[in-house]
Amino acid sequence: MTPSEYEYLRKLLREHSGLDLSADKQYLVESRLIPLARKAGLNGIGELVQKIKSGADAVTIDVIEAMTTNETFFFRDKIPFDHLRETVLPELIQARASRRGLRIWCAASSTGQEPYSIAMCLKEFAPQLSGWRVEIVATDLSLGVLEKARAGIFSQFEVQRGLPIQSLVKHFRQVGELWQLNADIRAMVQHRQLNLMQDFSHLGSFDVIFCRNVLIYFDQATKIDVFNRLAKSLEADGVLALGAAESVVGMTDAFKPYPERRGLYQPNPARGARSGASLTMVAVAAG
Ligand SMILES: C[S@@+](CC[C@H](N)C(=O)[O-])C[C@H]1O[C@@H](n2cnc3c(N)ncnc32)[C@H](O)[C@@H]1O
Repeated sequence: MTPSEYEYLRKLLREHSGLDLSADKQYLVESRLIPLARKAGLNGIGELVQKIKSGADAVTIDVIEAMTTNETFFFRDKIPFDHLRETVLPELIQARASRRGLRIWCAASSTGQEPYSIAMCLKEFAPQLSGWRVEIVATDLSLGVLEKARAGIFSQFEVQRGLPIQSLVKHFRQVGELWQLNADIRAMVQHRQLNLMQDFSHLGSFDVIFCRNVLIYFDQATKIDVFNRLAKSLEADGVLALGAAESVVGMTDAFKPYPERRGLYQPNPARGARSGASLTMVAVAAG
């Protein structure tokens, strides 16, 4: 790959997916895109770049998808899910008693382990939530991961990462060497394609947003922009969960860390966050 081809791809990825590649990541781009070029019958990255420049949208999408990192696992980092079960959901269930509705967004949901972990937590509150309208919206840029997420089929390796054995027994059935998540948990999650670089205000407002381990790949200006837009999509008493290596500190004052709830953030009232009473429920078509 020539330096100018690398620069072209860097710019394309930053603009389309937010991915911020440093100047020394040629090896990463080559390791992901050379197999892609081969599969498309092209002779290396030079021809791949020519194809993108000629307006081949399908190739551009394949390049963007190939450069995403989809690493995920059930109940990743554990602590946010403990908070969800022990404090966040009980408090929100009380606060939304008259509305009888809860909306949770898992942005950058990858192959589904994260939104399904949230669904399994919510399932524990089924008696209190009977008759409620509960939505879990899972979004990702990549159609490939969304397809796998919708199927809800996981390998032995995937279910061994983070999933307690009791949850495996309760919510999955074995199909040959694979594990299929039960239909009731799958039905709790709506999967939709969404690029965080683009406007997401049409999704409406949420009580909880999980946006974990994706902003880490973005440059600072893009992170700030996404944080500020996430703040507009969160209820005043809502909760934002970030990944273990992510924080709003030093980026934006739209959120402030929850005291004693590591990884969780609340909208900063000083920034005039949305009022819980003015929630607009937006119906999101099931995916
Ligand atoms: C490392 S995974 C994190 C998955 C999950 N949130 C977790 O923490 O386990 C990052 C995900 O972000 C998605 N992604 C990358 N850029 C994105 C963008 N601009 N908009 C939406 N999703 C994006 C990728 O496709 C990938 O599935």
